[in-house]
Amino acid sequence: MATASSIPSQELFDQLPKHLHWEAYNIYQWEGFWYPAAVIRGMLAFRSNYKARCDDVILASSLKTGTTWLKALCACIMDYHDDQLSSKNPHLVVKTLEYEFAGETLNPDDLSGMPSPRLFHTHLPYSALPESIKNSESKIVYITRNPSDTMVSGWHYFNKILRRNNQDPYPFEKEYNNFCAGVHSYGPFFDHVLRYWSESLKRPNKILFLKYEELKRDPKGQVKRLASFLGRPLAGEDEVDKVIWGSSFERLKNLEVNKNGELPFGNVPNSAFFRLGKVGDWENYFTAEMKQGLDEITRMKLEGSGLDF
Ligand code: A3P
Repeated sequence: MATASSIPSQELFDQLPKHLHWEAYNIYQWEGFWYPAAVIRGMLAFRSNYKARCDDVILASSLKTGTTWLKALCACIMDYHDDQLSSKNPHLVVKTLEYEFAGETLNPDDLSGMPSPRLFHTHLPYSALPESIKNSESKIVYITRNPSDTMVSGWHYFNKILRRNNQDPYPFEKEYNNFCAGVHSYGPFFDHVLRYWSESLKRPNKILFLKYEELKRDPKGQVKRLASFLGRPLAGEDEVDKVIWGSSFERLKNLEVNKNGELPFGNVPNSAFFRLGKVGDWENYFTAEMKQGLDEITRMKLEGSGLDF
């Protein structure tokens, strides 16, 4: 694991820019992005200990952009004959590495003993990935989502997991302002998305860039694209349909494990990952001014990148 000297002390955290996230815990700015302290510790241990294999697949995403769906899709494609999702939440089938390394229990030997191909996930920005992932032949699949729906989804998610005990919902406008300012867990959102986007243009065989909205609009086309990228082309329409159904919101949301189960860390109910699963829910929350404000930021940030939402 990371050596004691590489683990930041509380004094070091005290010197970093910090922000009280949802009146619940601090997030700290580290190398340009915001994270809870445990994630920074996990990230550093991940970076010092992870040795990529050429056939690893790393899923990557910012928060609330379709991570659960991507994990489920890739689990179905890569492990076509073993329906692990019927009894396990997608976050236990495909683990998020910086969370694993943040716990005290992960032994790097567990990773080296795993059979290939290994399928993992990270929320880390591209710049924070271990060098061995960036420099090996391993593949990365990134998913993003339009920023307005991402923000609304995050607001619901954190209300569910951080505002229990009959607390009022966190003020929507405050969360909107934090999101626009980039001061949120793993933010700034646009910096996260843009770097993966530019890397995917430079190395299309290394990084596949997916959008939640395109998956919704054309699931068959996008699933075939994903399966081919992973080197697991699906044999026919039946297999494509099976993957789409196996990973679908409707199926997963209604499984017993996701209705009543809980993740073994953080007291997070599995149901928190399956809310509405639609495109455009922001319309039910944003004022016209909010929409205009975030659209303007989006336009400025994405200008010249070739990316749009
Ligand atoms: P909503 O809150 O808009 O419903 P993440 O997985 O990155 O945390 O993102 C969660 C969002 O993805 C939530 O969006 C959730 O409902 C949606 N989601 C989860 N599983 C899905 C699936 N299988 N298909 C489509 N959307 C899904």
